[in-house]
Amino acid sequence: MLCKKYQEQLRWVIYQIYPRSFMDGNGDGIGDLQGIIQKLDYLKELGVNAIWLCPCYKSPNDDNGYDISDYRDIMDEFGTMADMEALINALHGRDMKLIMDLVPNHTSTSHFWFQESRKGKDNPYSDFYYWFDEIPNDWESAFRGSAWEYDALRGQYYLHSFAVSQADLNWNNPAVVKAMQDTVDFWIDKGVDGFRIDVIDMISKDFSRGCNGFGPRLHEFIHALFGREKAAHLFTVGESGVHDIDEMIRHCAADRGELSTLFLFDHMECGRADKFTPRQDSLKTLRDHLIHWQRETEKYDLLHSLFTDNHDQPPMISRIGNDREKRYESATVIAAMLYLLKGVPFIYQGQEIGMPAAAYDRIDCFDDIESVNTYKEFCKTMTPEEALRKINFGSRDNARHPMAWSGERHGGFSTGTPWIALHSRYQEINAQGDLSSERSVYRFYQALLALRRANDVFLDGKLEVISTKEDPYFIFTRKLGNETWVVVCNFEGEQQLQLPFTCEQPALANLQRETMDGNYAPYECAVAKVVSQSV
Ligand code: GLC
Ligand code: CA
Repeated sequence: MLCKKYQEQLRWVIYQIYPRSFMDGNGDGIGDLQGIIQKLDYLKELGVNAIWLCPCYKSPNDDNGYDISDYRDIMDEFGTMADMEALINALHGRDMKLIMDLVPNHTSTSHFWFQESRKGKDNPYSDFYYWFDEIPNDWESAFRGSAWEYDALRGQYYLHSFAVSQADLNWNNPAVVKAMQDTVDFWIDKGVDGFRIDVIDMISKDFSRGCNGFGPRLHEFIHALFGREKAAHLFTVGESGVHDIDEMIRHCAADRGELSTLFLFDHMECGRADKFTPRQDSLKTLRDHLIHWQRETEKYDLLHSLFTDNHDQPPMISRIGNDREKRYESATVIAAMLYLLKGVPFIYQGQEIGMPAAAYDRIDCFDDIESVNTYKEFCKTMTPEEALRKINFGSRDNARHPMAWSGERHGGFSTGTPWIALHSRYQEINAQGDLSSERSVYRFYQALLALRRANDVFLDGKLEVISTKEDPYFIFTRKLGNETWVVVCNFEGEQQLQLPFTCEQPALANLQRETMDGNYAPYECAVAKVVSQSV
């Protein structure tokens, strides 16, 4: 059984907002906090009860806010601290929660700490970062090139696991731990309800083992942040490269005083050979990863996170679904197979209207630092057309275009010119159009979340998988007490299905259907309560 805190957190349905691209409240072409406030009713009606905001702190925006220059102030483009307080009030007034993005691994090099640190080896901030006389290893930046940069003022090299302007903090220095605890406390006092923690696995390094992450003090540091009484009530989800259950237990077991849950990335292999290379794939791959982690987390009473999309990933619907003729069906069947499993649902902005990957015909439509650097790198070994094709496939900007609210000018996102090109299909796919369509992805999500809310079986119910690994579909039941529900998700082809039990009429389906048995069209899904088992 899940502990009490996790049982409560299982009721959270979290919507991830990329503030820069969600809604522009003042017409400067950049999304902002007032814009988010305008859209809270849209979210509330969808059935979400929490939002996760990507970083809103002061930042020069080399990595769109993941390069923080002041943890206690708001990015100019997004508004002021008064706007943030207004947002928190507006959320709490609607019985919704706020999860902030905490970025503890690095700061912007324009942060005061770094500016002081580079001045010399004997000021209070000297040891806030990793400084070396000689480059100690061959670590590479996630955004390409060496992870080491020479700073002429200090006359030493510092570590940056990401952009040159994102310097890694030295957590072995107790003053850094203290500074980050104070940051967490500052936001707790403002009223935030939880944190998504950026690359949490990287805050402890092991230079002797040559390992940038999962260092020997990782759990000690996480515990220092969240194992304190003041932080005990928070919902916390860490972004992490964890692949095995033992490591997940060390992060998330109820008695560890570390994190509520983790974002795991095994299923991100769906539809691709590597980040920039597509691979022919089906929903089976997603299904099998989901089943694996459901079984593991259920066995050890861990809280799981359910997501397919975020601000770093091209939408799942475009990787393993059909985002053209069967876009509505693909979007809804993925939702059914994901969010009716056990865990905390995360919905990324645009996912609820079935927004597919974007495609641009010019490299200057891209803004993301990783995409721009990678394009340059690719052009050394391939034609510009080929490089652009790869960037179009894998770019993080696939998820960072302005939210398409309508088919009007600038997609209803802004009255001014948006900071990044609109989605190439925004006139065809947008919230207004979706809501007025008979085949509305939003309405399906709404019905699914309502079903989940009304039936505890979808929260804590035990999972049983009925289909086999070979089957081109996914059938599972959830069971709590003497109540059982069945979920049928068909994949690419047509199927004739006969379930081993009698069911009520479908309570949820993406296409018209009267009974649970019979013919299933490609990507058709249906959910019903089981009346009796025929065996
Ligand atoms: C995480 C974020 C990503 C960011 C990186 C560095 O992976 O999700 O957007 O660029 O960390 O902070
Ligand atoms: Ca704005």
